[in-house]
Amino acid sequence: MIIAVDGPAASGKGTIARALAVHYDLPHLDTGLLYRAVGVATARAGRDPDVEADAVAGCRIDETLLTDPELRTEVAGALASRVSRHPAVRAALLEYQQAFARQPGGAVLDGRDIGTVIAPDADAKLFVTASTEVRAQRRHREDALTDYDAILADIEARDARDSGRSAAPLRQADDADLLDTTDMTIGAAVQRAIALVEARIRR
Ligand code: C5P
Repeated sequence: MIIAVDGPAASGKGTIARALAVHYDLPHLDTGLLYRAVGVATARAGRDPDVEADAVAGCRIDETLLTDPELRTEVAGALASRVSRHPAVRAALLEYQQAFARQPGGAVLDGRDIGTVIAPDADAKLFVTASTEVRAQRRHREDALTDYDAILADIEARDARDSGRSAAPLRQADDADLLDTTDMTIGAAVQRAIALVEARIRR
C-alpha cells in the first residue's frame, strides 16, 4: 500500500505521515529532507540555490547529511524551497523517491508532489493543511528564539514559491482527501488521517 501525504510547511503532514507509517507498519520517507539536503549542500559549497546548474551540483548528497540537525532549521527550509523550483533538481530526486514508493509492501511518503507526480497511483492520498497563522504558531513553539513575525513571513514566502512554481507546484491531487488540522490536536488529526485511509482502501 502506498500512502501519499502532501501539504504546506507546518501543516502537520510529517507527524501524520510518521504516525501512518507506524500504524500500517510501512517505511516512511520525508521527501522535504532530500530538498533540504540539496539546499544546504548547495549553500555550503558556496553555490547559488537560485541557479539551476549550481543546485543540480548539490544533488550529489552524502547520506550522512540527511541526519544533520541543520536540515531542520527554517534557513534550510527556505533553501530547499529555492532549489526545489528547478525542474532538473526535481528530476534528479525523482527516481529515488519513486523506487522508495514502489518497494514491496509499499510505503508512506510526505512532501508537496507525492500524490500528483511521485506516486499518482497511490492507494490513499491526503492533502494536509492548516491556516497560515496556526502553522506559524506551531513553528514558533518549536523555535521560540525566532521572532513569530519572521516565521510567518517565511511560511508565506515559502507557500507562494511552492504553489507558484511551474515544476510540480504544491496542489491537492484531484483524488486526495483534504485534512484541515487548524483546530485539531495532533492526536485527533492522526485519528482522522487513519479513518480517511481506511475509507479509501475499503472502496
Ligand atoms: O516539507 P519541508 O518543509 O521539509 O520541505 C522543504 C521544502 O522542500 C518545501 O518548502 C518545498 O519547496 C520542497 N519540497 C518539494 N517537494 C517535496 C518536498 C519538499 O518541493 N516533495
